[in-house]
Amino acid sequence: MKAIRPSWPALVAGGLVLTLTACGGSAAAPGATSSAGDQKKLEVFSWWTSGSESAALKTMIDGYLKTSPGVEVVNGAVAGGGGGNAQAVLQTRLQGGDPPDVWQTHPGAAIQQYTTGNLLADASSVYTAEVKSAIPATMVEAISAGGKQYGVSAGAHRGNVLWYNKQLLEKAGVALPGADYATATFLADLAKLKSAGVVPLCLGAKDTFATAELFENTLLASLGSDGWNQLTGGGTGWDGEKVKAAAADTARMLQYADPDAGAMSWDQATKKLASGGCAFESMGDWAYGELVKGGAKEGDTFGYTPHPGTGGSFVAVVDTMVMAASAKNPAEAKKFLEAVASKDVQLAFNREKGSVPLRTDVDVTSLSPYQQQSAKSFAGDAIVQSVVHGEAMTPQFTQAMFDAVTQFAQSKNVDAFVQALANAAQS
Ligand code: BGC
Repeated sequence: MKAIRPSWPALVAGGLVLTLTACGGSAAAPGATSSAGDQKKLEVFSWWTSGSESAALKTMIDGYLKTSPGVEVVNGAVAGGGGGNAQAVLQTRLQGGDPPDVWQTHPGAAIQQYTTGNLLADASSVYTAEVKSAIPATMVEAISAGGKQYGVSAGAHRGNVLWYNKQLLEKAGVALPGADYATATFLADLAKLKSAGVVPLCLGAKDTFATAELFENTLLASLGSDGWNQLTGGGTGWDGEKVKAAAADTARMLQYADPDAGAMSWDQATKKLASGGCAFESMGDWAYGELVKGGAKEGDTFGYTPHPGTGGSFVAVVDTMVMAASAKNPAEAKKFLEAVASKDVQLAFNREKGSVPLRTDVDVTSLSPYQQQSAKSFAGDAIVQSVVHGEAMTPQFTQAMFDAVTQFAQSKNVDAFVQALANAAQS
């Protein structure tokens, strides 16, 4: 399991590049296509390249093209779950003065890295009275700087979900877990599955964020939401006893990980769960979109529960679009963000994505049972921001955490791991 940092040409080759217009379009490379002042092209940059992610992105693009039918949309998506590769490419492009018109990010520290660098255009005008009143004030705050809004959030993913293959659990005599599922029971169930000849834990460790997410969720179980906020707010240290306990539990879980984990991305691991190749996966609910896209049936093929010990907490991973301060096509970039803020696009996007609309005035009764209960949880549970997805801590910390997790997955050295995290939090 090692961090993937392909070179720039490899990233471009790995990226999905296609163009879409109202009447179809031809392939075009990002950057090469949007010449300055070109009003007919708009580049949309993201890491949405899996089956469900691409389908969700298409709903945004289709919604936008309804108001701008003549514009050629350049899809500059770069593959790599959690966006590690995409963000490296984006940084290079920002430094080189070649930003995409609009790009995907998250609230909190993730968007702040761009607002503090003056890299984003003010999107406040998208926040009409209707939009503003429909989005929870804390969520508006999380994309604001200096009283202005710089991003439009499409939906809220829940990061702390444990997915399972029903048949495999039944085969191993493991009771289907409920909302009060505890870490100790989970570890005992992983052992039972192993004894029954089942691969206990699905893991897409080719995407570094997947192992980090297992740790993040286990850390939340150890700390609780208040402890989480204290830790990420700097009130307690990353080398404290509860962080150590979470690291030790994560190491125990990793002993049950799929031996093929290092060769699989998060979406491949999720498909493996659906096809009965492995039993449990701790993963944000973009996995729901991917399971359903692959034909798996909620309550039949698979089930879900909060990651053990995290019932009542909702790790929010909020998909947000921003527009470049120096967008080549600022007028269309703004129209794209307006489409993202619309009720229709929020419903269509989240239907594919597995998340829930950020606008509270979107009728979610046509969404799946999973998403309807997730919407309730988002409205009523303790919301915490994700470290893995860049919301709660700086990008530098998150990168250091990924490096530390990669080493930890090999060494299982708890003290060295928490020390690396504590050092990163202080630098
Ligand atoms: C994003 C999701 C995406 C997931 C996996 C997260 O950071 O918020 O939209 O599906 O990464 O790529």
